[in-house]
Amino acid sequence: DQTLKETLLGSIRTIPDYPKPGILFRDITTLLGNAKAFRRAVDELVHPYAGMKVDQIAGIEARGFILGGAVAHQLSAGFVPIRKKGKLPYDTVHVTYSLEYGVDEMEMHKDAITSGQKVILVDDLIATGGTAEGAVKLLRGMGADIIAACFVIDLPDLGGRKKLEDLGVTVRTLVEFEGH
Ligand code: PRP
Ligand code: MG
Repeated sequence: DQTLKETLLGSIRTIPDYPKPGILFRDITTLLGNAKAFRRAVDELVHPYAGMKVDQIAGIEARGFILGGAVAHQLSAGFVPIRKKGKLPYDTVHVTYSLEYGVDEMEMHKDAITSGQKVILVDDLIATGGTAEGAVKLLRGMGADIIAACFVIDLPDLGGRKKLEDLGVTVRTLVEFEGH
């Protein structure tokens, strides 16, 4: 029987030189399209919190929506989308966050979280941590109690885990890839 890591690593496709020369793009569409790998990834993200009171899963657009929705269902929690700017119809709170090159903005509905709610942040991958850091700021600004931030993939050389841990956030990741 394959170990969890073998199943996950074996189902993630690596595309060299995408979107730019020198970048190894870790493509999770092949994991999502593999029923066994998708289930194992979601089960592993969920299992520490089974039986715990979790109010909301916050998922980061776009790839965090896919995993976060499945995690929310499994934990009988709500799902809150953190979206790139301009996509949400009601009043929002927003944050500017840093990308590898430049900055962008993301936002949430201003009533999406009630102060004190227990929230798990979910995304597919943590690289520099700029995206997740922005999400943590948004959630904490709304009074969320962030139980953990969970990712399938960690690129440890880019320092994102450390950035979140320095903010006092518990980080969980399932597999790592060295390099960028
Ligand atoms: C990717 C990935 C994470 C983020 C990680 O998303 O899905 O959300 O980058 O990078 P960071 O840790 O350096 O901030 P991307 O912005 O490419 O958008 P997508 O999920 O909509 O494809
Ligand atoms: Mg993303």
